[in-house]
Amino acid sequence: MIQPQRITCVVGARPNFMKVAPAFEVLRRRGLQVRLVHTGQHYDEKMSEVFFDDLGMPRPDAFLSVGSGNHAVQTARVMERFDAELEQWPADLVLVAGDVNSTMAAALVATKRGAAVGHIEAGLRSRDWRMPEEQNRVVADHLSDLLFTPSADGDANLRREGIAARRIHRVGNLMIDSLRRHEERARSLPTLAELGLRAGDYAVATLHRPSNVDDPDHLRALIAALGAVAGQLPLLFPVHPRTRARIDGLGLLLPKGLQLVEPLGYLQFLGVMAQCRLMLTDSGGIQEETTALGVPCLTLRDNTERPVTVTEGTNRLIGSDAAAIGPAVARLLAGDTPAGRVPAGWDGQAAERLADVVCAGFVPMLEDCAPDELGPAQDVGA
Ligand code: UD1
Repeated sequence: MIQPQRITCVVGARPNFMKVAPAFEVLRRRGLQVRLVHTGQHYDEKMSEVFFDDLGMPRPDAFLSVGSGNHAVQTARVMERFDAELEQWPADLVLVAGDVNSTMAAALVATKRGAAVGHIEAGLRSRDWRMPEEQNRVVADHLSDLLFTPSADGDANLRREGIAARRIHRVGNLMIDSLRRHEERARSLPTLAELGLRAGDYAVATLHRPSNVDDPDHLRALIAALGAVAGQLPLLFPVHPRTRARIDGLGLLLPKGLQLVEPLGYLQFLGVMAQCRLMLTDSGGIQEETTALGVPCLTLRDNTERPVTVTEGTNRLIGSDAAAIGPAVARLLAGDTPAGRVPAGWDGQAAERLADVVCAGFVPMLEDCAPDELGPAQDVGA
């Protein structure tokens, strides 16, 4: 049994910040020694720094400057540098979040250094093994001593993979803690006026998944379909750097009415998302945030690791075919919108529940290797 006193929280990329900020704050408030390490996977001011200000997070205690690179290179750099960091400041527990390369790399290093691992947003599965995020989630989950799930489907996925029930803690959605905390301020910012938009009378689009932006023909078709939407309703498109590079590479003449802007900070984006008529996205987090806000969301993917946003929330999975966008938008504009309710545990208190679990102490995997409900291996007839 350990009761962690020294905890390292790891962040690396944009979607990590809003998940880790509430845990970091609550654990510190409870008197634990908590260190914040930024791998530097995202490094642009607009992809990283602005989030620290917006979320009221202190500057990281360590910044590992790993930067961009292919998956293996980026993962390897995080591993090497985070290993040195853990050597210098040994932690009892390393908290990682989500599914980015930094998440998996830090979990692996912590495990090899004998530190316990806690995974925020454990148990999500798209069942699409081509997605780097799916690979990262599965590895991080199987290395974790504490698995903090946002919804019951996460628990079920983990149990199915043989992860012991005693390690799984359904604390709810930490990203929604950040959203609830900052929503009011975000809505009161002058962002809409600055962008020339009126509340309830515009759409927002985001695209960054390799499956949508890396193929030139597919990206061209998506931009044309977004252009058609922009003919009916102003369409704001904050552009991720990866997508910006691809669009620039196409040399496209952009459709009129499509308003491309730089990535927005957390508060600005939350403000525009909360007040839009509809959202078009391929992001994971935005599917959850729109469900929490009751905003209709069309997800341009063939699968989702967040099914609760469809079964309970305001999300519709429309597939990645550009031809699906027009009819799906028309349906929403005609008033056929998903009713949606906010899933249990998405209540702004998830970080408190996480801290309760951490402070109560737990038996780390190092001391507890008992198998849990092992099924029989496949009989190949030997
Ligand atoms: C990463 C995550 C993805 C998450 C997304 C949110 C992985 C495998 N993917 O994807 O799950 O949804 O973050 O944004 O970890 N770049 C910049 N400035 C930056 C960061 C990136 O210009 O601050 C550019 C670089 O050219 C880089 C490219 O964007 O090569 C992609 O960045 P990377 O971190 O590799 O992946 P994302 O697509 O951002």
